[in-house]
Amino acid sequence: MSLSNNSPIGIFDSGVGGLSVLRAIHARLPNENLIYFADQARVPYGSRSLEEVRAFSEEITRFLLSKGAKFIVVACNTASAAALRWLRESMPEISFVGMEPAIKPATEQSYSGVVGVLATPATFQGELYNSLITRFAGNTTVLQDTCAGLVEEIERGALDGDKARTILDEALRDMLDLGLDTLVLGCTHYPFVMPLIEQICGDSVHIIDPAPAVARQVEFRLVSENAKSTQDAKGKIQIYTSGDAKSLASLLPKLGFQNFPVAKI
Ligand code: DGL
Repeated sequence: MSLSNNSPIGIFDSGVGGLSVLRAIHARLPNENLIYFADQARVPYGSRSLEEVRAFSEEITRFLLSKGAKFIVVACNTASAAALRWLRESMPEISFVGMEPAIKPATEQSYSGVVGVLATPATFQGELYNSLITRFAGNTTVLQDTCAGLVEEIERGALDGDKARTILDEALRDMLDLGLDTLVLGCTHYPFVMPLIEQICGDSVHIIDPAPAVARQVEFRLVSENAKSTQDAKGKIQIYTSGDAKSLASLLPKLGFQNFPVAKI
């Protein structure tokens, strides 16, 4: 397929989480066409092996390329931990931007010296996370929690349900008691429960959602590769799921997306 500046940016995640990144990219680059793939038939990724997530990531990347994507955003911390380096090595002709937990900015910004990270077990196991800790944690205490079950709650649209609240309460209480002042959202699903996280943490905790930084990075890369969209019209957004298209279409308004077509793969 021949690519042009107006070819879409391909974005993927295990489910709806990467839509928090798509939202930031669309806000920053409104003229870009975007294709999103939610692998809802296989969500969650976080408890799977890195090898399995790498295989899924390759398959989805190839699907997005077959749809004419000019650029790939791995809008999933777990898939980035499992596959980003490998995708870049095995497809050097493609440009990729991925996620990494914001350990560097968090440790720089923390006054109390206590930072929390919420991410999946696979992200915590990955080389990327561990190298960030080695490079940037220094004397900062970095507390971690996997928030088991939270991704599933978000996938079913229970953004402020009792279960989500209990999971977050249990994850954050001990961190708060230990002096947490900066919290890294290391899973792209979690910005969708930001109101709950803010309620539990109160005003004194700075919460880092990496999506705006990723959107800036996408813009920087498109500009430097001379690949930015040239159209004046607003970009089109097409959403695909490996799960149930109807249920995703009915979940989207809860996540802040009105009237988007969803296709099943
Ligand atoms: N949204 C994904 C992330 O950023 C993972 C959720 C999952 O499938 O476990 O890690």
